[in-house]
Amino acid sequence: MTKEINNQRRKFMQYAGVTATAVATCPSLAQALNMGTSSRPSANFHADVEIELTQEAVKIPIFKGPETRIWKVFGKVLKGSPDTISEIPGSYLGPTLNFQKGQKVRIYLKNNLPAHSILHWHGLHVPSKMDGNPMYAISHGETFVYEFEVLNRAGTYWYHAHTHSVTAKQVYSGLAGLIIVSDEEEKALGLPSGKYDVPIVIQDRNFDSRNQLVYITHMMQRMMGFLGDQIMINGKPDFVLPVEKRSYRLRLLNGSNSRIYKLAWDDGSPVTVIGTDGGLIEKPESMPYVMLAPAERRELWIDFSDKPIGTELTLRSIPFEASSMHGGMMGGMGGGGMMGGRGGMGMMGGGRRGGMGKMMSGNSLPLGGEYSVLKVKIVKNAKSNDSFPKRLTPITPLRLSDSINAGKPRTITLSMRRMSALLNGRSYKMDDIRPDEVIPVNTLQLMAFDNGYSRSMGMMGMPHPMHLHGEQFQIIKREVNSRHRSAHASISEGLVDSGWKDTVLVMPGERVTFLKPFNDFKGMFMYHCHNLEHEDMGMMRDFLIK
Ligand code: C2O
Ligand code: CU
Ligand code: CU
Repeated sequence: MTKEINNQRRKFMQYAGVTATAVATCPSLAQALNMGTSSRPSANFHADVEIELTQEAVKIPIFKGPETRIWKVFGKVLKGSPDTISEIPGSYLGPTLNFQKGQKVRIYLKNNLPAHSILHWHGLHVPSKMDGNPMYAISHGETFVYEFEVLNRAGTYWYHAHTHSVTAKQVYSGLAGLIIVSDEEEKALGLPSGKYDVPIVIQDRNFDSRNQLVYITHMMQRMMGFLGDQIMINGKPDFVLPVEKRSYRLRLLNGSNSRIYKLAWDDGSPVTVIGTDGGLIEKPESMPYVMLAPAERRELWIDFSDKPIGTELTLRSIPFEASSMHGGMMGGMGGGGMMGGRGGMGMMGGGRRGGMGKMMSGNSLPLGGEYSVLKVKIVKNAKSNDSFPKRLTPITPLRLSDSINAGKPRTITLSMRRMSALLNGRSYKMDDIRPDEVIPVNTLQLMAFDNGYSRSMGMMGMPHPMHLHGEQFQIIKREVNSRHRSAHASISEGLVDSGWKDTVLVMPGERVTFLKPFNDFKGMFMYHCHNLEHEDMGMMRDFLIK
């Protein structure tokens, strides 16, 4: 064991109060917490459904010509309804896992990749050991057994690779898929279902002339986050959704590494949101456009019944001011959206030739630019008796007075310096828990993400989609530093802060305050930026719930 690990462990023991016996007998912190890898099913867990997920390196046809090498999750139901998994035919995405609230699920994850890897169930409230923390990564040929009960309410969740320092690359290669949870309460609402309930996974990719995925080639891309010039829907380029003249439920997931979307219908119709990360909100909210940051979900309700057959409708990403740059090496690029807020030209002027200029000029879809995301075509008549839902489901608001730190939010400061991305000035280290990262179990915490609101973040202000593992949270308020107000106004009408969230977009100059419960499970739970390049650059930490 290295001295560093010893030191970390000693520090941890000090803070977390792990017993001296554990220290003496266990080779690592993970094992000290009795959270070693899990390779066998436990006898006292009685699963309602059992599935096997296998990760493989394969080639699939995406374009005409050569097949594309991807990493894909394959699924098989071992016990329970065959509908527990459903495929998106021809997609590089893994199968959709369809769970019922209250179900006990066992998942055998087999890793047949030429690399170590682990899957995380994004948004699900599961025990620490079942959460896919990078410390549980398995190597080629190994199996990890997950066992958990589905505690979450109905909603759209997802799974993806969460492997130390290579999460971005592995998700980019294809290791991701949807999880759809249903429950009785939601079924009783009679929302559009079956083929009228459509998942839409939005991702951006780069392909070379041989149809192969191209990931990051330049250090600056790492700093900003990867941006591809090809929008993929459910793993397909040039996706068109054929619809009938009736209402639909569209479940949007932003599965991109770093791209943020500002989505609007091109015919000027408002966007009607019925759900977010943690399922339905209390009542539909209509807005001119909707923001969708990496890992966020939005469920839309849309009625095509008044549109003539043959009509085409496009959900477009429309311009916004993505970043603010000032001082230091970014000098001269500040102001109106250096990432190309206005038609992509913002980047071209002023940048250092070799660095930003070169990197950005290669991309025809700058962040904050304008481009088409999803095409819909009305193809068929239909008789629909779904009426517009006036109310959805009641949501019990978390109360500030129930938090144990009402006057003193636990604040997580977001910053970027040189080639690192930091949380409270720290970058990720496995098994490294500091005193302010220890949280008593079964408490409600008032928390805040501060992205240069109270203190300037130095040379670069970037949006960070911040995510917490474990139970979902409720947003209390957003505050914007006056220097960033005009940039913020370019996105603010599209934020949906109601309902349950697990990922929240924190814009430059912004502080977001929220209430987060830490119930039921002790152990390590991560918090991190879901710009996956930032995550891999270290913008990730663990909380220890004890
Ligand atoms: Cu979706 Cu820790 O991640
Ligand atoms: Cu997660
Ligand atoms: Cu970030």
